[in-house]
Amino acid sequence: MMKRRIVIKDEWPGHSVDLFTYPEHYHDDIESVYIPHGVIMDRIECLASSIQQDFEDHLVVLCVLKGGYKFCSDLVDFIKVLGRNSGKYLETRVEFIRLKSYLNDRSTEELHIIGSPDLSFLRGKSVLIVEAMIDTGKTMTALLKHVVTFEPKMVKVAGLLVKRIPNMAETLLDYVGFEIPNLFVVGYALDYNEYFRDLNHICVISRTGKLKYKV
Ligand code: HPA
Ligand code: MG
Repeated sequence: MMKRRIVIKDEWPGHSVDLFTYPEHYHDDIESVYIPHGVIMDRIECLASSIQQDFEDHLVVLCVLKGGYKFCSDLVDFIKVLGRNSGKYLETRVEFIRLKSYLNDRSTEELHIIGSPDLSFLRGKSVLIVEAMIDTGKTMTALLKHVVTFEPKMVKVAGLLVKRIPNMAETLLDYVGFEIPNLFVVGYALDYNEYFRDLNHICVISRTGKLKYKV
């Protein structure tokens, strides 16, 4: 069954940039505000509520860097607030993993974990993998396979954005924020050659921006 999510249609042009504030240094670099920060936050609050209901007493969050850091941070904050206000508080531990699924300019099926690949602390734990962007699902499939070898009690996956791509491995995901067309977006920790992570909205880059930060 397809998980509930906000579906953004192919025709959605985004909001005009001058309806929002954003860092001055990105003036001219953004085509449109695709998902405003406030909407992202409201959606994450809702995901946090589902997660808070689904997990028992503890939660090990495995944050996929770098793109997942904002999503992870805001999601965990919401889970903590819900816990304090509901009497069901999940003991939460946050761990980080950095992945490289691209080798040179090509996507690979091999999973390259940067940093400590020893995830033995996951044994017997309820794990939530938190990833900002899922496109082909290849990386997530490989990561899940790897995580399962450490014998966690259960593993669930939260993706803030999922691209509408044919044959996407939909079943990988337990919590989805937004489904978007297959286009390149930045902001809210998602980058274009390391730029735009400091933008709070999720945006589409302009031609000028693409050229300016091209490598
Ligand atoms: N934005 C940023 N990083 C990405 C994207 C995207 O749309 N897709 C895969 N990595
Ligand atoms: Mg990137």
